[in-house]
Amino acid sequence: MLDAKRFLIALKNMGIDEYVFAEKEGPTLSGLKKAVMNCERCGLAKTRKNVVFGEGSPKAAIVFVGEAPGEEEDNQGRPFVGRAGKLLDQLIERIGLTRNDIFICNVLKCRPPGNRDPEPDEAAACKEYLLAQLDIIRPRIICTLGRHAYNTLLETDAPITRIRGKLTTFRGIPLLPTYHPSYLLRSQGRIKEAWEDMDKLKTML
Ligand code: URA
Repeated sequence: MLDAKRFLIALKNMGIDEYVFAEKEGPTLSGLKKAVMNCERCGLAKTRKNVVFGEGSPKAAIVFVGEAPGEEEDNQGRPFVGRAGKLLDQLIERIGLTRNDIFICNVLKCRPPGNRDPEPDEAAACKEYLLAQLDIIRPRIICTLGRHAYNTLLETDAPITRIRGKLTTFRGIPLLPTYHPSYLLRSQGRIKEAWEDMDKLKTML
């Protein structure tokens, strides 16, 4: 890349004292969202009601990554608005934050029928969008919710009980895997560990 200082010295030598650098707008979340809203990369495009792009602050320090929209999310086009979402709100509150401070998205942007697990081809087709979201936001921390988000990003097949709470990195960004809120609703004995994970996130901020 051309060294800016050398470029300005060269301009000055040519008798040019002022130069306004044109600012080229890089990729933005809203630009990405426009592309994702029309996506037909996999079969879920035929069954979805709404694409659930994700929402929150484009400058979020933490990005939470879930699995896929459920029925209520598909109806509303917003992530984590059902029962699991209420619990996620409490987890976020524990960090001392609100939804406006963070960004929430999913591996899949469209609901799998009957809330089945994402198929590998669906996750592969949608992964580029998640990576683009992370590239644009560049959060300080990624928190994956459940095994699908972790395994999709890290390209592993680890059980959640082995990885949960163990800090790792993804593309140089600290990544903390915790339980999925839907799992916590079914396995309330695990909630204490999720609180501990939120406390860890708070100290990392
Ligand atoms: N479960 C998820 O993984 N994501 C949502 O948006 C809702 C429920």
